[in-house]
Amino acid sequence: MAKKMWAGRFEKATDKDVNDYNSSLPFDSRMYEQDIRGSIAHSQMLAKQGIISQQDADDIYKGMISILEDIKTGKLTFDSDAEDIHMFIEEELTNRIGDAGKRLHTGRSRNDQVALDQRLYLVDEAQGILQGIDDLVEVLKDIALDNIYTYMPGYTHLQRAQPITFAHYLSAYIEMFLRDIERIDAATARANFSPLGSGALAGTTYPLDREAVAEDLDMNGVTLNSLDGVADRDFAIEFASAISIFMMHVSRMSEEIILYSSQEFKFYELDDAYSTGSSMMPQKKNPDVAELTRGKTGRVYGDLVSLLVIMKGLPLTYNKDMQEVQESLFDVIDTVKAVLPPFTGMLKTMTIRKDNMEAAALGGFTNATDLADYLVKKGLPFRETHAISGKLVHYCIENNTTLEKLPLEKLKEISEVFEDDVYDAISLKTCVEGRSLIGGPAPETVKAYLESL
Ligand code: ARG
Repeated sequence: MAKKMWAGRFEKATDKDVNDYNSSLPFDSRMYEQDIRGSIAHSQMLAKQGIISQQDADDIYKGMISILEDIKTGKLTFDSDAEDIHMFIEEELTNRIGDAGKRLHTGRSRNDQVALDQRLYLVDEAQGILQGIDDLVEVLKDIALDNIYTYMPGYTHLQRAQPITFAHYLSAYIEMFLRDIERIDAATARANFSPLGSGALAGTTYPLDREAVAEDLDMNGVTLNSLDGVADRDFAIEFASAISIFMMHVSRMSEEIILYSSQEFKFYELDDAYSTGSSMMPQKKNPDVAELTRGKTGRVYGDLVSLLVIMKGLPLTYNKDMQEVQESLFDVIDTVKAVLPPFTGMLKTMTIRKDNMEAAALGGFTNATDLADYLVKKGLPFRETHAISGKLVHYCIENNTTLEKLPLEKLKEISEVFEDDVYDAISLKTCVEGRSLIGGPAPETVKAYLESL
């Protein structure tokens, strides 16, 4: 085993088990690009501040670029017993460029370095995730624009409640996903501050230019307390929390996809390419993508809870417990990245059974409220009309018919106020079109909403 960089005050080498237990290289190696970027910015600043020579900084730059390239091409692999990615790269740098490599870590600690790497990594990954959610919104918007006039039942308690349109239903999810984008964006912007210069915990006496490093790294600024700079992992928790809320939304939608593609509903037919079969039952076509998405939501919540629990009892400042933050954060990122393409693809390719949606909207007395409202417009008090409508629904259930099929004589038996115009008043079209307030299902309203996006 190579000698540790910190071995100066030790008499014995690290136990093999302890070394393996302690090592984060198997998972933090994924941050090699961010680690190198941070080191280049740090060393360039060291030279500008006259703390190391420009020659050393240039050698460090060249060495770092060659390491970056060799990692990318697979020439350099992480099969070393280095404790973490920071030491791996620093050791490799010194092997390549000699003494200048040993000057890189001046005025820096792995404590501020690892906090920086995670922030940069999160910011980099957030871009692809945000793009993926954007694509999802685009797909929903396209489907919605094709379904402005597709009637379907809206549900409460999973019981048919009032008629809406499929476009209106999809727009509800668009609203959720737009909030998710805002939340993830805001969490990312807050993560994008540089802790470099916090040192191990108490800053450093070298005249570092913290702001120049942050600017060089395209960050929004610097953290303002060195203790917080190394001890804070809020950015990971906040990001995991924003992703958890997003996952909650895709999970709810998944649940409905599973339900709506069942033989009982038949609102959706999933594309063959986005479904799976059964090894035993030849007739099966299963919504695995939606089910896995629902399942992976639980996994992301687990990561969020892990992060909160890892951090909850830690005294300031850095503690090795915090190394565990990385795997949960990475799992959140990997999971949401894995969810997005198949989930969006499933929606994009599924067949919408407008006929079945409309048939369901016609059944289930979704126009019973409108019948009561019709009588209110004729001058009766709502509590009375609610009871009349309820009575008629009861009659229809007993006689296996629907409100709009009842003859006028039957309606008049219950209330004299009914006239011929009732049939238009309780048609699906009128029920939906009449709800044209902001946020309502009326086709023109939903169309204007979608076009405003
Ligand atoms: N691998 C470590 C981590 O992820 C880097 C920081 C090590 N700092 C220390 N004081 N041992 O947390």
